Amino acid sequence: MSKKIRVGVVFGGRSGEHEVSVASAASVMEALDKEKYEVVPIGITHEGRWLAGSDPRRMIAGVAMEEAGQDDTVTAVVITGDPTRNGLVPVDTSQAQQEAAGPLDIVLPVLHGTYGEDGTLQGLLEMAGVPYAGCGVLGAALGMDKEKAKMVFRAAGLPVVDWLTVRRHNFEQDADAVCARIEERFSYPVFAKPANLGSSVGVGKAHDRDELRKVLATALEFDRKAIVEPGINCRELECGVLGNDQPIASIVGEVVSSGEFYDYRAKYIDNASRLYIPAEIPAETMEAIRRMAVEAFLALDLSGLARVDCFLDKDSGAVYINEVNTMPGFTQISMYPKLWEATGIPYPELLDRLIQLGLERHADKQRNRTSFSPEEEA
Ligand SMILES: Nc1ncnc2c1ncn2[C@@H]1O[C@H](COP(=O)(O)OP(=O)(O)O)[C@@H](O)[C@H]1O
Ligand SMILES: [Mg+2]
Repeated sequence: MSKKIRVGVVFGGRSGEHEVSVASAASVMEALDKEKYEVVPIGITHEGRWLAGSDPRRMIAGVAMEEAGQDDTVTAVVITGDPTRNGLVPVDTSQAQQEAAGPLDIVLPVLHGTYGEDGTLQGLLEMAGVPYAGCGVLGAALGMDKEKAKMVFRAAGLPVVDWLTVRRHNFEQDADAVCARIEERFSYPVFAKPANLGSSVGVGKAHDRDELRKVLATALEFDRKAIVEPGINCRELECGVLGNDQPIASIVGEVVSSGEFYDYRAKYIDNASRLYIPAEIPAETMEAIRRMAVEAFLALDLSGLARVDCFLDKDSGAVYINEVNTMPGFTQISMYPKLWEATGIPYPELLDRLIQLGLERHADKQRNRTSFSPEEEA
């Protein structure tokens, strides 16, 4: 039998979406085919400490216990900065966790938000020479920054909701001038959101100047840059994309929120938001969204996977790309895996494909020449 692929599943992390990531990773580790893969769970605590172990369930509990200062059975992860020998190595510091020690064949970053979905982890893995699943540095960073993603979409001719960018510095200098500039351009209600975040954290809806000041101040607590958009009376449609150079799109699903908008509470607490797969929309709209999703994926130079979220304007019928998530929620009941299941790719096969795509992308990058001498070229 051929050797198993050692997959490091990285989860948790220094992000507001730590808990969501832990839930996603638990599903992923459970579903990975143990005949093909040796799973090495790598948990990152809220404080940013990297821990490795061999038993997924124990590791998840271990990360929580480590935070409470109660667990010493987990193993530290060492990044050697040596691409020639795959430089991300769980080292054996405790007898109990010996199986976790040794280099990994690929890393599956099941992290949402900052320090995981934003290109920082991807940069670390690039420097260490470790193959990983999902988007590269640029794609992850662009996907995370709502302002820059919109700029690229607009340049690629894709429809986005108009916006204004507000910097913390300017808001702190003269909030009234900032609000006046927004009111000149848009009428209420407007949405303010931190440029780099997710899970609706820091997102607010304002109906007047007072509320606008408040939601902007909140958004700017989470990031030094916020975007403000006119509120759209919309349906929220989501499409999965999978692949590298020839990405494919899943069928389109719809999220119907329990609250006034799809905020953190509606996403994770109330349990009252509903997913409809497929979305009940005309076939042409579904096809248009699938095409746009693939174009958006290529425009941002993404790889592996992304969930492309769109707004369908109920008043005008227009479709806008709202944002992409390069590591969307990944529990078995999350939108992205469910969209693929409904399109014909069951959860375990989706994981196989993501690992394969990560290995292929790594091999493709290895083909790039890294030396050049003008004499030889002549
Ligand atoms: N311009 C807008 N018009 C209407 N609703 C919006 C708008 N922008 C955001 N929302 C609502 O806020 C939610 C969170 O905003 P989103 O841009 O998706 O940020 P996040 O990355 O936090 O998910 C959306 O799912 C939607 O319900
Ligand atoms: Mg969103």
